[in-house]
Amino acid sequence: MSNKEQTLSIIKPDAVERNLSEKIKSIFSKNNLSILETKKLHISKEEAAEFYKVHQSKPFYDKLCNYLSSGPLEAIILEGENAISKNRELMGATNPKDAKDGTIRKLYGISIDKNSVHGSDSVENAKVEINFFFKA
Ligand code: CMP
Repeated sequence: MSNKEQTLSIIKPDAVERNLSEKIKSIFSKNNLSILETKKLHISKEEAAEFYKVHQSKPFYDKLCNYLSSGPLEAIILEGENAISKNRELMGATNPKDAKDGTIRKLYGISIDKNSVHGSDSVENAKVEINFFFKA
């Protein structure tokens, strides 16, 4: 049975800064994830805090919000079969040190903070996160 989903990807400031957006987007396309919409923007710390509010109790929350608002990012709506898990597989483990060979974070990630990409982790969060960047 088919399971077409949409998910949100963010190419984070460290990757935008190093001009990796096209390389990362070609990995999505080659792996049957279609790019439906993209938006390049520089969010404020308050907006980053709203986006990452599920992590507000974590010790790294403040640093995370400072980082996501530190420079331009590219938000992308991806669509395809099992897009949420497929994107997470392509990204690899959160910490680039633990990511498998060939994954985006292994190829391009610098550290657990500067790990180049974000991807929604569930159908529910994908809807919230897509709406955050692409609401009408
Ligand atoms: P991301 O998938 O965008 O979701 C939350 C981010 O918090 C995560 O990627 C990491 O970049 C960042 N982060 C920083 N420190 C940690 C940590 N100790 N555990 C998990 N995520 C962390």
